Amino acid sequence: MTVTDPSTTTGLRHRFPGLRGDWARLDGPGGTQIVDTAVEAMTRYLTSGDNANTEGMFAAADATDEVVARGRAAMGELFGTDPRGVVFGPNTTSLVIDLAQTVAAGLGPGDEIVCTRLDHDANVAPWLRIAARTGATVRLADVDTDTGRLPTENVTRLLSDRTRWVAVTGASNALGSIPDVAAVAGAAHAAGARVLVDAVHLTPHRPVDRTALGADVLVSSAYKWYGPHLGVLCADPDLLDALDPDRVRPAPQVAPDRWQTGTPSFEAIAAATEAARFVLDHARAVDETAVFAPLLDGLLAMPHVRVHGPHDHTDRTPTVAFTVAGHRADDVARHLARQRIATWSGIFYAHEVMHALGLHEDGAVRAGLSCYTSTEDVDRLLRAVDALA
Ligand SMILES: Cc1ncc(COP(=O)(O)O)c(C=O)c1O
Repeated sequence: MTVTDPSTTTGLRHRFPGLRGDWARLDGPGGTQIVDTAVEAMTRYLTSGDNANTEGMFAAADATDEVVARGRAAMGELFGTDPRGVVFGPNTTSLVIDLAQTVAAGLGPGDEIVCTRLDHDANVAPWLRIAARTGATVRLADVDTDTGRLPTENVTRLLSDRTRWVAVTGASNALGSIPDVAAVAGAAHAAGARVLVDAVHLTPHRPVDRTALGADVLVSSAYKWYGPHLGVLCADPDLLDALDPDRVRPAPQVAPDRWQTGTPSFEAIAAATEAARFVLDHARAVDETAVFAPLLDGLLAMPHVRVHGPHDHTDRTPTVAFTVAGHRADDVARHLARQRIATWSGIFYAHEVMHALGLHEDGAVRAGLSCYTSTEDVDRLLRAVDALA
């Protein structure tokens, strides 16, 4: 079902216990509120007596096995991926660091990794670090700074038979732009490289299908899509078996478990299972553009505001970065907070693109829609920014 009346997007607000009070929460790209069914699943697990480790000889351990199996099945559905290749970890950054360190064992001088300046640093810095260690080279694809977009050819022109991995984002957490990942992945595979897609910012807004995107590995974080603080890595189980991550000797030797160091947060897995269900069944059905268009258009119409990144609605998420003439980004965010409007200011760990845009010192303000954002929230933001003229 697609919701067409913007006012009805508030129809999901009652599902978020954290939305009590009159705060306008436009901070979703930094982390959303958690949906009621996810909160309940976490509480249920923690209070049920099932709290135990996996693979035991008693009922609670069996129940915990079931929590993990259900979690992997839900991620399989959310990300179009084989549940046998689903790895849970603390967050996306840790999972990418682990993957890069594991991949490093097979890299040396002459090997190349292609990253992009559109990416969050979680999908750049780990590759820079292993390149420094192994003698491999990282080549960085440039963003078009006028549009805030990543042209496919800026990535494909860096590919060669030396390319081993291509690391690309599904959507920019700073600017909202969505690159053509499937085209990048197709070209990367034709060059013989593997592809890692950071789907953290894309997941709450668009269907994400690992296989259709052509991602060998895909990562995401449940706290960006109405769930708990938990990272998810999805890959072909054969690839996870072929790589050799650091682990302790008694740990499982087969994927995906051999990638999960130590004991995962079972309560977070239980909650993320429900968050995935909510994204699939409800969140993505909201017509975000109906709420976002007045926000983007309103900011673009203000002479004292500069919007960074795409100025249109094609291939973007409902996330916008902007600066206000004569005001530092942190001060704008503080001004908004005094009116109970939550936004983020800074560079959002989008290190490369914010440098490329010359925004690395004062940063920008970022406002992003979640499925619970109302047109009233947007009006309040616009009125408060307008008052800074
Ligand atoms: C696009 C993107 N990638 C990666 C990350 C890092 O995720 P985590 O905080 O789970 O390590 C974030 C977090 O803001 C993000 O927005």
